[in-house]
Amino acid sequence: MNQKATPTLEKVVPEAEDFLPLLGTDHIELYCGNAKQSAYYYITAWGFKPVAYAGLETGNKETVSYVLKQDKITLVLTSPLNAGGPINDHINRHGDGVKAVALWVDNAEKSWNETTKRGAVSVFEPETRTDAHGSVVLSAIETYGDTIHVFVERKNYEGVFLPGYEAWNPSIPTQNVGLKYVDHMVGNVGWGEMNTWVDFYTRVMGFAQLISFDDKDISTEYTALMSKVMSNGNGRIKFPINEPAEGRKKSQIEEYIDFYQGAGVQHIAVATSNIIETVTELQARGIEFLRVPNTYYDTVLDRVGEIDEDLDPLRKLGILIDRDDEGYLLQIFTKPVVDRPTMFFEIIQRKGAKSFGKGNFKALFEAIEREQESRGTL
Ligand code: FE2
Repeated sequence: MNQKATPTLEKVVPEAEDFLPLLGTDHIELYCGNAKQSAYYYITAWGFKPVAYAGLETGNKETVSYVLKQDKITLVLTSPLNAGGPINDHINRHGDGVKAVALWVDNAEKSWNETTKRGAVSVFEPETRTDAHGSVVLSAIETYGDTIHVFVERKNYEGVFLPGYEAWNPSIPTQNVGLKYVDHMVGNVGWGEMNTWVDFYTRVMGFAQLISFDDKDISTEYTALMSKVMSNGNGRIKFPINEPAEGRKKSQIEEYIDFYQGAGVQHIAVATSNIIETVTELQARGIEFLRVPNTYYDTVLDRVGEIDEDLDPLRKLGILIDRDDEGYLLQIFTKPVVDRPTMFFEIIQRKGAKSFGKGNFKALFEAIEREQESRGTL
């Protein structure tokens, strides 16, 4: 146990004063080179369920989108149908990646008004889209890089996803892997830009920085990144922001920025209530995860104390453990899920802990160094 008295994560803004109340993550839209095949990957490997489709058959001449769901997580995979245009530009520059982090709100017009009046750059003004199932109000603002936030007001809508989409039931076999909801989404920004975006989320979105165990535990010698966690008022939306830092080697954040050609979403952390089952299933389906050396497990319980799970399956699967004042968490990171070393996923199971596992950075790097030392290559 290496933590001292640290402040706990608290509800940071009283709801009454929250000018941008967020109900949750509505969906995440990725721009992809080949959305049809990406959809197949997320359905078969990740256990998402096909939900909705928009494309030529539904009257979309420019784009095609596949909507997939697993419990509260909704992914939208979009490809352009023609040459040129902003989606092709996005893919050309960034490769496949997250374009929109869409936030579920009660009032998309007010969300747009409140944020743009505080300096947000508008992507599009509030607009109502209607079909036989009701109407949805959408608006959007820019955030870091080419990423945007879309505000989605869907209280008057009963359709499968959004107006313009039709139900999609392809005959692709799929089985849920137990993913429940988006726990947090991490943005990588360029050198010296972290505080700009911390300020953006504070001033424009009404978020506050979570003061947590993580901040006290950064070992700059090892981590080569700096990170601050921004949370909205009710704590449902958490956006850690990373920037590169000088370290022993090229920062993983710098590598991302080089390949993504700028700031963007680094990882999507998805929660499960049984990480052993979820990761067993994902590994059986070929999802590749980062592995820590086995020596990690020799000392991990000295660091985190008692846990409910047997260590053996955690070791076998490569699941990491961390603890803060409120409990512990289990987590594991995939390798990048796209060709460029950019976006990846984290699977997380919280058992009381509200932090993000920074204790594992040091453990991970120390474990690697012990391995190197034993081989005489340090
Ligand atoms: Fe994370």
